[in-house]
Amino acid sequence: MPRRRFLKGAAVSFVAGQVIHQARGAAATDLTELQTSAPLIVSTWPFGKPANEKALEVIKAGGSGLDAVEQGIQVTESDPTNPSVGLAGIPNAEGIVQLDACIMSGPGHRAGAVGAVSGYKHPISIARRVMETTRHVFLVGEGAEAFAKKHGFEKGPKVSAGQKAAWKKWQTAQKAAEEKAAKSGKPLNHDTIALVALLPDGNLFGGCSTSGWGYKIPGRVGDSPIIGSGLYVDNEVGAAGATGIGENVMRYCGSFLVVEYMRQGLHPQEACIETIRRIAKMDPKGFDLAINFIAIDRKGRFGAAGTGTGFQYAATSSSFSKVLQSPGLTAADIGPIGGNRK
Ligand code: GLY
Repeated sequence: MPRRRFLKGAAVSFVAGQVIHQARGAAATDLTELQTSAPLIVSTWPFGKPANEKALEVIKAGGSGLDAVEQGIQVTESDPTNPSVGLAGIPNAEGIVQLDACIMSGPGHRAGAVGAVSGYKHPISIARRVMETTRHVFLVGEGAEAFAKKHGFEKGPKVSAGQKAAWKKWQTAQKAAEEKAAKSGKPLNHDTIALVALLPDGNLFGGCSTSGWGYKIPGRVGDSPIIGSGLYVDNEVGAAGATGIGENVMRYCGSFLVVEYMRQGLHPQEACIETIRRIAKMDPKGFDLAINFIAIDRKGRFGAAGTGTGFQYAATSSSFSKVLQSPGLTAADIGPIGGNRK
């Protein structure tokens, strides 16, 4: 939706401080009914809802924002039915599950991340330890695993019979799949948990975790652990996270862009929309990107947007916990920032 329409009174209403974008597509959730107040937790996909609820429980019990993010994301990482977060995720092309994660603290502008880590149950916790005990931000592969071992992190279950069977099937079909993927440019579906939280004291925190692109080239790292791409937190402004094809997020520092749009005064939902529109404007694929963003600001406003039909995300506060539908953007959404690619 063009910003012009967003800014015109008729398209905007204010309820409990939440500016509402009457998003394109009737399916997008109308946020006007949601009374927002901190603590407020927003995350990607319906599987984010139990993670949000865990995070809220941690905050209510007096835990820190980092505890809330870490323990919330651990819920998703532990889910044996989730094929794209944690050790139940789809393995890489060699049958090994490689995980990416990061965590960020608004206070102190601190960050930690791990990429291409195998065998450990909670990459989000390893990322936090990197942030809290080293002078570095990002550890990858064997180095990250050695770090996790040294710090006594819990090893997770080995690749299951089901994961192995699916991988073997994939290997058999690999040639055909690769040809098809090369033609479409699309990876196997994969989702990510990005979770952002606003605490009652006004501080912001976030985390992100994924097993990434199914049957990826070993060593491939997506957007999720990259600060500014899969996640960004700026304590003066807000926080944003991404899910979708990492390659289409990381080439544009997507989450950083969302936060920068919020800094310019946009509502979080409008910031997600403008980010997608700007990326689509530059990218040869236009809106055919499979990227999605969530965002939250210091005022307790939140929103999301995705390409195509959009995506589902979860929002939780003391008064509600819901799965919501984001607006979706297609080539029809050429907007006032310049239209689609030149
Ligand atoms: N967005 C997750 C990934 O591409 O790995």
